[in-house]
Amino acid sequence: MPLPLSAIPTQPRDNEPANAVRESAETLSLLARRRSLKLMHLTAPAPSSDELDALIALAARVPDHGKIGPWRFVVIDGDGRDRAGDTLEKVIHADEGVDDARREFVRGWFNRAPACVMVVSSPRPNPKVPEWEQVLSAGAVCFNLLLAAHALGYAGSWLTEWPVFDERARAALGLTPEERIAGFVYLGTPGQGAAERVRADVSSRISRF
Ligand SMILES: Cc1cc2nc3c(=O)[nH]c(=O)nc-3n(C[C@H](O)[C@H](O)[C@H](O)COP(=O)(O)O)c2cc1C
Repeated sequence: MPLPLSAIPTQPRDNEPANAVRESAETLSLLARRRSLKLMHLTAPAPSSDELDALIALAARVPDHGKIGPWRFVVIDGDGRDRAGDTLEKVIHADEGVDDARREFVRGWFNRAPACVMVVSSPRPNPKVPEWEQVLSAGAVCFNLLLAAHALGYAGSWLTEWPVFDERARAALGLTPEERIAGFVYLGTPGQGAAERVRADVSSRISRF
């Protein structure tokens, strides 16, 4: 069962301690145990509209050099999934080698999960904040959204797939030429447990000066 929205703490006041209110084994457990769930295992109900707004507000609490907010969010849920899927289908409709089965699949693209948040990286030219930093901030937003969703009782998966790399799809989904899709974060209720995946050997990736 998802936690009630009232379980989400308010944002901090100035000069409040920045660490957790108390040491939190639950938070450590979330970090140690969270896994993405395949889309087919994300079941209804989706997070409600209010829950999505609250999750996005949490997700946006990421390091952001210059307080630029170099990202934005497009919620694709409910009927919006059909509209967004139709939009993608129009992009590939007349492409060479695309048959009716592929058109149908692409039309149902966003119905593969109960809800999706498209996280858009919107870097702004800034003399003090390189674009790289702004793009990294958008990646942090995607993961923060996943973490928040899991903490509320949902599950999800951060995917890109072809629309991210197709200029026509990006434009059709409303992006400017300067923007990129940092990820489609698909969300829903976990229908089953998640397989653990092979994790990178961290110790071989740590060195010390
Ligand atoms: C930026 C980004 C894009 C991804 N895109 C895809 C994708 O298009 N297709 C896919 O199967 N997995 C993709 N993945 C991997 C999935 O998110 C994968 O299920 C995930 O890494 C599982 O790790 P987790 O269990 O720690 O969440 C992507 C991961 C990242 C970080």
